[in-house]
Amino acid sequence: MQNEDLATQTIERKQRHVELCLEGDVDFNKRSGFERYEFRHNAVPELNLNEIDLSTTFLSKKINYPLMISSMTGGYNGATQVNAMLAEACEALNIPLGIGSMRQALESEAHRESFSVVRKVAPTIPIFANIGAAEVAAGLSTAQTKLLVDLVRADALIVHLNAAQELFQPEGNTNFKGFLGELRKLCKRLSVPVIAKEVGNGISGEVAKRLIDAGVRAIDVAGAGGTNWQKVEVLRYEERFNRDERFTEGGFAELMNWGIPTAECLEDLRLLRRRKAYRSIQVIASGGISNGVEIAKALALGADIAALAKPFLKAAFEPDGAEAVKAFALRLMNDLRATMFLVGAKTIKALKIEKIAERRG
Ligand SMILES: Cc1cc2nc3c(=O)[nH]c(=O)nc-3n(C[C@H](O)[C@H](O)[C@H](O)COP(=O)(O)O)c2cc1C
Repeated sequence: MQNEDLATQTIERKQRHVELCLEGDVDFNKRSGFERYEFRHNAVPELNLNEIDLSTTFLSKKINYPLMISSMTGGYNGATQVNAMLAEACEALNIPLGIGSMRQALESEAHRESFSVVRKVAPTIPIFANIGAAEVAAGLSTAQTKLLVDLVRADALIVHLNAAQELFQPEGNTNFKGFLGELRKLCKRLSVPVIAKEVGNGISGEVAKRLIDAGVRAIDVAGAGGTNWQKVEVLRYEERFNRDERFTEGGFAELMNWGIPTAECLEDLRLLRRRKAYRSIQVIASGGISNGVEIAKALALGADIAALAKPFLKAAFEPDGAEAVKAFALRLMNDLRATMFLVGAKTIKALKIEKIAERRG
């Protein structure tokens, strides 16, 4: 395919992803795993609710809440406005923002503004650039990595691992060969930390270990239970092709709910971080997180911060999007604070696994 066609295809795909996530049934038919945990109620919290401190540090930056808006969009016409609203809310809250895959910015100069706008609107918060594993595996040049980081003055680069999505994507790139070697080189030469992230199929402890050994400084587990990219890509496939051609013959139907539930990934990473060499790695909990109690559970299971994607996208499409995003984030944090009160945890650090009493199933 010609470079120009490829660039046009990427632009169309990025726009359709957002539309399908807003309109379609694109959630997993299984849950993120937090329902298996119950906090132990503390009848004597010995705390003043107003003194509970939700601030924390992520990748050496002080942030007001253990919350982040996960990578979503950029690279098409309407993305500038969406990213500006997300950035405005994050700046007001002093929380990190991940932007969507910047592959489109590498393919053409059109729509670069849809990425760079976040730094204009949010000059002070941590912003994370984003690129896919397939692009890393193919080998990024120094000029390309510089462009990714410079365009948003990024504090870190997220590399997203999306093998299942590429597998289900009509035009997906399923060549991940040589990825770890290229990742190692990238981590070495980059001036900012690298974060490895899934997109909804989860990262196991064993995979996290390999990523950390290659040089990444943080893992965003992005586990199963929320947005399901197998479903999103099947919807796109059905729009463009005869579904039977690929999905019935290949037996892909059995893989529609493939993925490690988010809470299970966190358990794995908690065990990994008991080992001295992996203790300093930072962990982002994401994938199907929908309320403040789940955020509290994620933190108690060892995550440093929690991240949500689709729920924030939906808020951004409400009237006065930036305000709606901010209000939703504050509602999550209010519920987190209330949960911390009821378990007697004054700080994020005090939210520990011991506060969880039951594990079901
Ligand atoms: C519209 C949309 C676009 C996304 N695009 C990207 C992307 O470009 N890069 C990436 O790393 N993740 C992307 N994601 C995945 C999210 O960052 C997140 O890992 C996933 O949606 C699970 O979180 P959720 O259940 O809270 O939505 C996207 C998610 C949505 C909803």
